Amino acid sequence: MSHLKAWRAAIVHCIADPKDVGIDAAYEYYQDGLLVVEGDTIYALGDAATLIPTLPKDLPIEHHPHAVITPGFVDTHIHYPQTDMIGSYGEQLLTWLNTYTFPEEKKFSDKAHARDVADRFLKELLRNGTTTALVFGTVHKVSVEAFFEASEVHNLRMICGKVMMDRNAPDYLTDTADTSYQESKELIDTWHNKGRLHYAITPRFAPTSSEQQLQLAGKLLSEYHDVYMHTHLSENKDECVWVQALFPTSNNYLDVYDQHKLLSERSVFAHGIHLCDDEYHRLHETGSAIAFCPSSNLFIGSGLFNLQKAEDHQVNVGMGTDIGAGTSFSMLQTMSDAYKVIQLQNQNLNPIKSLYLATLGGAKALRLDDKIGNLAVGSEADFVILDKKATPLLTSRLALSKGIEETLFVFMTIGDDRAIKATYSAGQCVHQRSSDNSSAQIN
Ligand code: GUN
Ligand code: FE
Repeated sequence: MSHLKAWRAAIVHCIADPKDVGIDAAYEYYQDGLLVVEGDTIYALGDAATLIPTLPKDLPIEHHPHAVITPGFVDTHIHYPQTDMIGSYGEQLLTWLNTYTFPEEKKFSDKAHARDVADRFLKELLRNGTTTALVFGTVHKVSVEAFFEASEVHNLRMICGKVMMDRNAPDYLTDTADTSYQESKELIDTWHNKGRLHYAITPRFAPTSSEQQLQLAGKLLSEYHDVYMHTHLSENKDECVWVQALFPTSNNYLDVYDQHKLLSERSVFAHGIHLCDDEYHRLHETGSAIAFCPSSNLFIGSGLFNLQKAEDHQVNVGMGTDIGAGTSFSMLQTMSDAYKVIQLQNQNLNPIKSLYLATLGGAKALRLDDKIGNLAVGSEADFVILDKKATPLLTSRLALSKGIEETLFVFMTIGDDRAIKATYSAGQCVHQRSSDNSSAQIN
């Protein structure tokens, strides 16, 4: 069995949602654990001392005595074409789009530019331990082709879609209802379920689509049983007022999408900050999910996501960076912002719950939890090695940590890309931090 390979370290992963089973039953932790991978799949997981005697004597074991292994992170909402516009100053959503975003997205009519950004974007995701993401392209079909071609190189499980946008945007960035339907269909037929890639039908948000375009998006969703639908919902108060004016017959913002048959088990709505009870209820009833994007919601001043309310209504929730309105590719930093957003609402976000949202919860929101999101035997071997000695501050602070929950919380509070020692996708190393100041030993 020379095709087996093993990693020895502290290992933690979620096996259920803490809201359903409580914190303690929601995760498994091995202080001195062993993760065994066969090809692209997890073969065994457990205590090193128990597992090692059951495995071949010549099994290569990579030992990381100062590390914690977690599943790869799942980013449920991000825009790859906004990589080079992070930190655009001084605006809230609608002026931010017009001032910064649309001119940046114009560049993606050029496939060479799109591929260059896609390559740098993926490198950045992997440097930050993110192995799966639900990704916006631009209105240009070539932007999605470039993204999928770049993802294929690393054999990553990625979801992407072409933006559908036929009004209230510059002419250089609009399609038509018919061309958006046709081009999306061609992309689905070429890319959906090709290897580890999936397609998401991607109307940007209600204000930039005509009724006819939304109706065709709904038609497309009905024509394929397992494609995704990805859009924005109720992010900013001015946006919500605008949507009500543009769609006067809708009962609420979500109802615009509902009336066009865009709610499904594979529908993911970014933000969902200013929702009424009916909207939470419909999200739950249809099995749709919300991408909680705390960094973005703070940066462009959108508001505070009410996680408690989403949970009360049993709505699926994942976590998203929302680059480039979000300010960090790091899901650790995004968890830090999530903690603060929940604090401002006089609640607490337990680190296990945060880990859940950033891994198994995201995988569940994307209906991929049979494949990714934790380290269960049979899952795809997408995982991250977190270095407890990545920085002087992590080293000194974690020396005082009393258990895995505190260790995770410290990683989520002061950790970032430097904490990611290595990232694995389908059993292959896709990122190795160059300055390695901890002591890995290969047996
Ligand atoms: N709503 C419509 N488009 C966008 C976008 O690109 N980013 C964010 N954060 N919200 C949007
Ligand atoms: Fe977004």
